[in-house]
Amino acid sequence: MRTLCLYYTRTNTTKEIMENIAKIIGADVAEYTDGKDRSGFLGYVGACFATVNNTISKVSIKDEADINEYDRVIIGMPVWAEGPCAVGRAFIKKFSSVMPSEVYYVVTHMGKKHDYAAKIKAMDKLLGRPSAGQISIRTKENDYIRESNAFAETLVKDPA
Ligand SMILES: Cc1cc2nc3c(=O)[nH]c(=O)nc-3n(C[C@H](O)[C@H](O)[C@H](O)COP(=O)(O)O)c2cc1C
Repeated sequence: MRTLCLYYTRTNTTKEIMENIAKIIGADVAEYTDGKDRSGFLGYVGACFATVNNTISKVSIKDEADINEYDRVIIGMPVWAEGPCAVGRAFIKKFSSVMPSEVYYVVTHMGKKHDYAAKIKAMDKLLGRPSAGQISIRTKENDYIRESNAFAETLVKDPA
């Protein structure tokens, strides 16, 4: 089974988590982006604005990775403003028709207030079908690599 781990990241945490998952399950990794520089305070404010107003229009995969070549995709994205970030949502919507049947979401967030489960599952509306699995991982004061290890282990299929 060929798997592609995809991620959007602003401060590299989601990247680190998705690269770790990819290493464990033997997957390829690619970054998706809307091409906007969101560094610094203004970038943070812009990210909140884009999420609340749902204003992301262009999103693409870097390095020309071709989703069509994969049997499974795992899509990583951070939470922005109490829900999966606008770039991630725009990505799912744009690429839903070319994604394989097995799609997983990995959502990273800082706070421990809640796990965003309902909002993560709601992305299935953008996908147009049920996702195969979802996980939210808290990144602050938490061993998020250990948590992503445990998630990755569940995806390793028994050898035939
Ligand atoms: C604009 C913005 C809004 C955020 N809103 C939330 C939030 O509502 N709840 C939360 O737990 N974390 C929130 N975060 C924190 C990120 O979700 C968290 O730090 C994430 O792991 C960052 O991933 P990254 O390093 O890949 O960008 C927010 C971050 C940004 C930049």
